[in-house]
Amino acid sequence: MDVLEQFALDGKVALVTGAASGLGAQYAAAMAEAGADVACLDVDEAGMRETANVVEAQGRRALTVRCDVSDEQQVADAVAAAVDRFGRLDIVFNNAGVADAEPLLVHEYDTPEWRRVLGVNLDGVFFVARETLKVMVPRRSGKQIITASMWGLTGSSSLFPAPAYVAAKGAVVNLTRELGLEYARHGIQVNAICPGFFRTRLGDFHDEQVLAAMSDFTPMGRIAEAEEIKGPALFLASAASDFMTGQTLVVDGGCMAK
Ligand SMILES: NC(=O)c1ccc[n+]([C@@H]2O[C@H](COP(=O)([O-])OP(=O)(O)OC[C@H]3O[C@@H](n4cnc5c(N)ncnc54)[C@H](O)[C@@H]3O)[C@@H](O)[C@H]2O)c1
Repeated sequence: MDVLEQFALDGKVALVTGAASGLGAQYAAAMAEAGADVACLDVDEAGMRETANVVEAQGRRALTVRCDVSDEQQVADAVAAAVDRFGRLDIVFNNAGVADAEPLLVHEYDTPEWRRVLGVNLDGVFFVARETLKVMVPRRSGKQIITASMWGLTGSSSLFPAPAYVAAKGAVVNLTRELGLEYARHGIQVNAICPGFFRTRLGDFHDEQVLAAMSDFTPMGRIAEAEEIKGPALFLASAASDFMTGQTLVVDGGCMAK
């Protein structure tokens, strides 16, 4: 196959969680630009509508489903709605995530906040993986891409503490390895993207001091724009990465090379 043809997604269906904003909106746009229809899941309905407009502007079909990924019934219903609408599921971006509300050390951290972050960033990833794998396994085909973080590969406190976030992201990095092994003989590839600092709604990217600290921490001397995730996302979603599974693709301006 011609190398550029390996990246084509014509006729495919992608499901993206956290599709209303940031990296999720970029994943949805990238999938549509490469030819896929997109099911957008999020708790932010207005944001999802904007993403759906971008998908439809590419001539692709979009579906928006309000879904809190930390609620297993909502996830099951949303995946069923996507399959009902499109009849198949080829690509999943398991991406919705939240950050710790404040930079607290563990001895200052309260249990409800711990459970909130783990509920979305770890339980949510499990629920979305489980429900979508139920659809992919009988078809013996599929691509699962989990948005982890460079903070899944190292502690964050060289910059700021985020104990629940780093615990969840470390867990999904190893869950990615486990899923890669579990489904290697099922025709399903499971990989993670580990972003460094990307300008989205997740961080305090408007605060000049925070921005300067993130840029200084990054060997390239800057943070990334959200759209810079599209190329790595398409690689993992397409036939170009067919012999790759259980891996993390680090996209961080060099941070993890230090
Ligand atoms: N931006 C970065 O620098 C960065 C770095 C590493 C990893 N990440 C990861 O990227 C992913 C996307 O984050 P982002 O940076 O685009 O942030 P963002 O805040 O711009 O987007 C996150 C989206 O997830 C949605 N969401 C939050 N909780 C949800 C829930 N319970 N159910 C469904 N949707 C929910 C939000 O409404 C939002 O649309 C997250 O997993 C995040 O941890 C981001």
